[in-house]
Amino acid sequence: MVHSGRPRPRALEEDVELVLELVPRGRGRFRLRLQAGDAGGRPLAAARLDGVDGAALTGGIALVSSSAEADGGARHWFAGLGTAGAKVAERPERAEGPVLGALYTLNGPVLKLTAQLFPIGDGDPPEVRLQTRREGGGWEDAGVAPVGPGFAAAFRIPDWDAGAERRYRVLWGAGTAEEQAFEGTVAADPAGDGELRVGLLDCAIHSYRPLNVGSDARDRLAGSRPLGLYTERNLYFPYAKLGAELRRRPQLLAAVGDQYYEHRPTTRERGPRAHPGRAVPLVPVAVGVPRPEPLGAHGGAGRRPRRLPPQPVGQRRRPAPGGDYRQGGYIHPAAWVNLVQRIQTSHNPDPHDPAPVAQGIGVYYGAFRYGGVSFALVEDRKFKNGDKDNRDPAGRRYGLTILGDRQERFLGEWAAADPGSPKLCFSQTLWGCLQTDERGRAQFDADADAAVAGRRAALELVKRAGALLLSGDQHLASLVRHGLDGFDDGPVQFVAPAAGSAWQRWFEPAGGLPNPGVAPHTGDFTDAYGNRMRVLAVANPKLTKAAFRAARRGRNAELGDRDRKREGYGLVRVDKRRRRFVIECWPWDGDPQFEGWPYELPFPEV
Ligand SMILES: [Fe+2]
Repeated sequence: MVHSGRPRPRALEEDVELVLELVPRGRGRFRLRLQAGDAGGRPLAAARLDGVDGAALTGGIALVSSSAEADGGARHWFAGLGTAGAKVAERPERAEGPVLGALYTLNGPVLKLTAQLFPIGDGDPPEVRLQTRREGGGWEDAGVAPVGPGFAAAFRIPDWDAGAERRYRVLWGAGTAEEQAFEGTVAADPAGDGELRVGLLDCAIHSYRPLNVGSDARDRLAGSRPLGLYTERNLYFPYAKLGAELRRRPQLLAAVGDQYYEHRPTTRERGPRAHPGRAVPLVPVAVGVPRPEPLGAHGGAGRRPRRLPPQPVGQRRRPAPGGDYRQGGYIHPAAWVNLVQRIQTSHNPDPHDPAPVAQGIGVYYGAFRYGGVSFALVEDRKFKNGDKDNRDPAGRRYGLTILGDRQERFLGEWAAADPGSPKLCFSQTLWGCLQTDERGRAQFDADADAAVAGRRAALELVKRAGALLLSGDQHLASLVRHGLDGFDDGPVQFVAPAAGSAWQRWFEPAGGLPNPGVAPHTGDFTDAYGNRMRVLAVANPKLTKAAFRAARRGRNAELGDRDRKREGYGLVRVDKRRRRFVIECWPWDGDPQFEGWPYELPFPEV
């Protein structure tokens, strides 16, 4: 390497422009020249590298027009783009957008489908067409929908033939030079007496390290390799490996929470928020993966729309007083919450009762049938009450609920419906607190739904329905049978692992538990709130909490090394013929399942 120029320390706020020239020198060899210049174009330093093998020179060309902070719109546009030369390769199969993906559900004859677009301009075609394949060839219109808030177009087709598989396409910009057709298949409702495979996905960070801040040297544990930044070890999106696994297995995919984190892949914006219509589209990460062959119906529970800090509580339907979430309520504007819900749940089956809660925030809890299975979907965050002292403004203590009256009435109705059908109930988080500290003592965590009275009411309804409860959110995968009066007289709940997470939790009770199973850390447990449960399986991080805490002082529990975490997805096989659930828990990168799974649960024992 030949250097020229005077090296001198540069300041962080300085703009330095780097220009790299690649000059062919014959016989597949290139000369590289890199020059650094200041904002005025004056050279600061340069370096040269001769005889570089052309095979080593691979990469891409990026043109970026980022938004100006003030209005959220683009600052520049491009025209007359062209490239030339032997080293430029065109890969049209990698082209993306404006239609990014589609999600659908099928509930009897009702098809609901949401097409997610990239941000489009004010002058661009404002609507999307849904078309289906004719038997003899060609396409026919099934519906037209506007590109609404969040750049999502939502369709509802009330008379779909659920008995037959059908090709569809989502068409944008028909007749223009930018026309795009996104194709997929709506599977036939697998209503026979075979198996229905239900995938569970939750907690999908885009990257471990945020991309806009410097690295933290203390973040690294002894024995862990550096993560880098733009590397496979740090970037989780687009979850290629896990997505490939998921394409093989489930017929229905439920995204049960934390599809989107506001502090990844860049730190949370703290300035005044842009108009929601201008916001970056919050694509539900993994459920958007299946393309061009979307998985079957997606019963996305959608869940609370964003990652809240662990919060004790909250009249969550109301604005948080002074933006303090500890006093309960939403810290984001209702329009923003509704936008996120629209993107993540507008393709869900129709809600049981669509009446919004306070601030006009929409709801999506309800029931549906698919694959010969009866499903319920509840929102265990939205209706939960409480605040930092659990007292009303007059100072009176109030009882803590999880589901609230409306959802409790709904679950009561669902418990009596569809007799004889296997039943699954989607929720967001564990209804109990399965967590221990570095000394193996039961730990409080207000992020779980462990309020004693509310938990009991909710669990009794699920038990009466004879349903298996399915959730995510905790990052720590677990399978428990809840206790009501004893340790094992309630329903079973399966909490799927995080697809990719930063914050870790552990369940390593000191001294072991009574009535253990074969897998470690199983048996009868009383959580920090006094709730009883029988732990059937748990998938802890691969290093103990004590080892983690010895290496990392303080309260932070973020762990970046995927080799030391247990991340993946859940799968429930509803075996209608042999009348049993087979509950599986898979790592993101293949075999085998986590210890303690698969777990067989006969229908009569639910
Ligand atoms: Fe999460």
